[in-house]
Amino acid sequence: MKRFAALLLLSLSPVALLAAVTGTWLRRVPEEDHRRHDPYLGQTTAIAAGRQLFQHNCTPCHGFDAMGRYGRPSLRSVRIRRATDGDLAWMLQHGDPFKGMPPWSSLPDQQRWQIIAYLRTLPPIGKPMPR
Ligand code: HEC
Repeated sequence: MKRFAALLLLSLSPVALLAAVTGTWLRRVPEEDHRRHDPYLGQTTAIAAGRQLFQHNCTPCHGFDAMGRYGRPSLRSVRIRRATDGDLAWMLQHGDPFKGMPPWSSLPDQQRWQIIAYLRTLPPIGKPMPR
């Protein structure tokens, strides 16, 4: 009984609730955006720039290892790996302000693509980060 109560409490925790409703933004991405490709994919200089931008703007919530902090989602998840470049670009531009993800429309397009090129170099959850 105690265990049941603990489980119930756990499933009602804000983190669990947040986890249950993350990913719904993907349904809002228009088809045209969904199909876009990152022009900087695999380009060393752009990836290095994206890494710096990521560390400057994103680590407070998503962590240096991009595993997410305090209930914010990991950016190395299966969902993010399956999302298209265009999905991620849309999310970065618009954010999901009601769920705590700020829009990054103040960054130039080029910088948002650089961040995505960097995200694409990250290992899946469970694999070590490169130095
Ligand atoms: C103030 C905290 C905060 C900052 C800073 C932040 N994010 Fe987020 N981010 C969130 C939250 C909260 C969510 C979950 C939103 C949702 O579920 O719709 C999220 C979701 C995301 C998602 C979708 C994740 C998923 O699994 O659905 C991506 C991609 C993302 N953020 C990328 C970034 C990038 C790149 C930056 C830096 C440019 C950044 N975020 C900065 C809080 C933040």
